[in-house]
Amino acid sequence: MKGIKFDFTNMFYPNIEKGIKYEEINEYKDKIEKIVSEILEEEPGFLKLPKNTKYLDKILDIQEWVQSFESFVVLGIGGSALGNIALQTTLNPLNYNYRNDRKTPKIFIVDNVDPDFVASVLDQIDPHTTLFNVISKSGTTAEAMSNYLIARGILESYGLDPKKHIVFTTDPENGILRKIAQEEGIETLEIPPEVGGRFSVLTPVGLLSALAGGIDIIDLLNGAKTMLEKVSNKNIYENPAALNALLHFLYYKKGYNISVMMPYSNKLLLLADWYRQLWAESLGKKYDINGEVVNVGQTPVKALGATDQHSQVQLYNEGPDDKIITFIKLEKFERDIKIPKIHEEYSALSYLGGKTLSELLNTELFGTEYALTEHGKPNMKVIFPEINAFNVGQFFFAYEFQTAIMGKLLEIDAYDQPGVELGKKVTYALMGREGYEEFSKEVKQKVEK
Ligand code: PA5
Repeated sequence: MKGIKFDFTNMFYPNIEKGIKYEEINEYKDKIEKIVSEILEEEPGFLKLPKNTKYLDKILDIQEWVQSFESFVVLGIGGSALGNIALQTTLNPLNYNYRNDRKTPKIFIVDNVDPDFVASVLDQIDPHTTLFNVISKSGTTAEAMSNYLIARGILESYGLDPKKHIVFTTDPENGILRKIAQEEGIETLEIPPEVGGRFSVLTPVGLLSALAGGIDIIDLLNGAKTMLEKVSNKNIYENPAALNALLHFLYYKKGYNISVMMPYSNKLLLLADWYRQLWAESLGKKYDINGEVVNVGQTPVKALGATDQHSQVQLYNEGPDDKIITFIKLEKFERDIKIPKIHEEYSALSYLGGKTLSELLNTELFGTEYALTEHGKPNMKVIFPEINAFNVGQFFFAYEFQTAIMGKLLEIDAYDQPGVELGKKVTYALMGREGYEEFSKEVKQKVEK
């Protein structure tokens, strides 16, 4: 069948003490069936996206305008940037911005307020030929807002009309960006209110910059749509998102607190960054049970094959039994390089001559998988037959659904993030935001003590 595949073989260890056995999965069959039904019935915002063409139509309406610029700069952070980054690095050439054959704008995604980073992007653009896409669902995030002010300041200093160089992506009704848009007539795309930041890659949040960069967003949504059908299956053995969630949950209960995602492909690497946020922010929660505080969550870690074989894999093989490794395997690379037959007189080099780099990389993946399995460490694979928008759409959707299932298994709300509020409040207070004067005093007093 077309699309990505999941291989769970090495997650099952009937012969090691903590290894998951099929009987344990079978015990959860009914529960999983109920959870999948509940999710389909509740229809959390992200679930509606693959079938909803409302947002797509609006984006396609402005395609020509968006692609008429030399540079397209996203200003956003967290869920308002990570999907965009993953889409560009995965589906466009790694050196996309620097290619002479590029037919669509250069894409920059500014997801931090590190002045060296921001300045380095500003150095590379000409404001006259740049479109800034300010993405913020809340319209209050300090990082996105300060970068918006900087971009706007630059446009104004050149005497450029902000309406011709800015597009907002924000809530349909609320927030300061919406207000400014209404007052000034700035082009604005909607983020569906019921879709949280980290679940929003398939909304205008991720789709506009993808389209700007020439990515086939229709295929991306088609991939998500086919995955929606697949993960709607209530039979755990036919639903990869459900089986993956349950395996992660059962191992988590046995002390496997870390979930490593390790693509053996530089182009697929930043899917793991997107996954890190999804898994961490959705599932790392605390709640009260009869007055007792319970903290849950599995720490997602990103690694790159083969690079991190020389950095992390010693730990994965011989370190504590606290990690599940998910490899991402690419079967067909877009390009390949043959290793020349040079120095055939040396056996340490001659075995490489005549082989391809993709052959070497995937053999290394097999070696790491084999070694982990021999060491009794659970590992699995997501297999991309090739990199295309359809397969990436499938990947995003499978992991979003898996996160929703895991949230239910952990009995937490996967869609909120109360734990990030305090840090944001302190920033507002110390940067002098109106309404935070008392809180600012409280923080300063505490620190001075
Ligand atoms: O997943 C989330 O909700 C967060 O990571 C947000 O995306 C992030 O904080 C940015 O928020 P906003 O889009 O409101 O600026």
